[in-house]
Amino acid sequence: MATPRRRLIAGNWKMNGLAKDGLDLVRAIAERARAEAGTDVLVCPPFTLLAAAAAAAQGSPLLIGAQDCHAKPAGAHTGDFSAEMLADVGAHWVIIGHSERRTDHGETDALVRVKAEAARRAGLGAIICIGETLAERESGRTLQVLSAQLAGSLPSGTTGESTVVAYEPVWAIGTGKTPTVAEVAIAHAHIRRTMGSLSSDANGIRLLYGGSVKASNAAELFSVADVDGALVGGASLIAADFSGIIAAAPAV
Ligand code: PGA
Repeated sequence: MATPRRRLIAGNWKMNGLAKDGLDLVRAIAERARAEAGTDVLVCPPFTLLAAAAAAAQGSPLLIGAQDCHAKPAGAHTGDFSAEMLADVGAHWVIIGHSERRTDHGETDALVRVKAEAARRAGLGAIICIGETLAERESGRTLQVLSAQLAGSLPSGTTGESTVVAYEPVWAIGTGKTPTVAEVAIAHAHIRRTMGSLSSDANGIRLLYGGSVKASNAAELFSVADVDGALVGGASLIAADFSGIIAAAPAV
C-alpha cells in the first residue's frame, strides 16, 4: 500500500514582513508547529528575513522556505539569489513559478523547470505553482492549461521528496474568491492523473490548493481527495489565522 502523504501547510508572505513583526510571527508559528506533529508547516518570508527566520525556527519542526531562486548556482546576475545561497542561510524549500512571478517577471514554464532543477541541485524542495487565469477558466480551458503547465514545468525525475505542486487559480489569489469544492476536486484529480505520465512517483507528490485559503474554508478544502495541504498568502501573515488553517488539516 502506498504511504499516505503528509499534509503541508505553507505560508507565502510575498513582499511583506519587517524584522520585528516578522520574527515574532516565525516564533509564534514555530510554537504552533511543535504542537502539530502530524503536519508539515512551512513559512516562506522575504529573502531579507530568511537567515533570521531560519535561526528563530531552529530546534522546532517549522520549515523555512524562499519565494524564488535563480537557475544558476552563481554569477553575474545582479539582485538575484541562487538556490545554493538559500540553502546556505537555512532554507529547506523554495516556491517556484508563483503566478505573480509569471506575471510580474515574465516567467515561463521552461524557466520554472530550470529553477526547479536548480532547487534539486542545491538540496531544496521545490513548490511548483500552476493555475489558470479567469479568462482561461471562462473559456473552458482550465484542465488543458494545467496539463500544459505541468508538462512544461516539472523536471524529469521529479519525486515527492523533491517536489510539491501547488494548484493556485490566478483569479482566486488575494481576491477572497475560491473555486467550489467540486471544481477543486476536478482540478486536483486531473493534476494527479497528468502527473502519472510525467513522474514515476506521481502518487507521492503532494498537491496543495492555494488562493484565498482561510481558517473558515480550510477544513472544507482539506476534505477534497488529493488536496494534501495549502499554500496560503494573506492569512499566513497573522498567527491566529495561519494557526486556524494548520488546525484544520487532519494529520496523516
Ligand atoms: P492568498 O495568496 O492566500 O492571499 O490568496 C495565495 C498565494 O498567492 O500563494
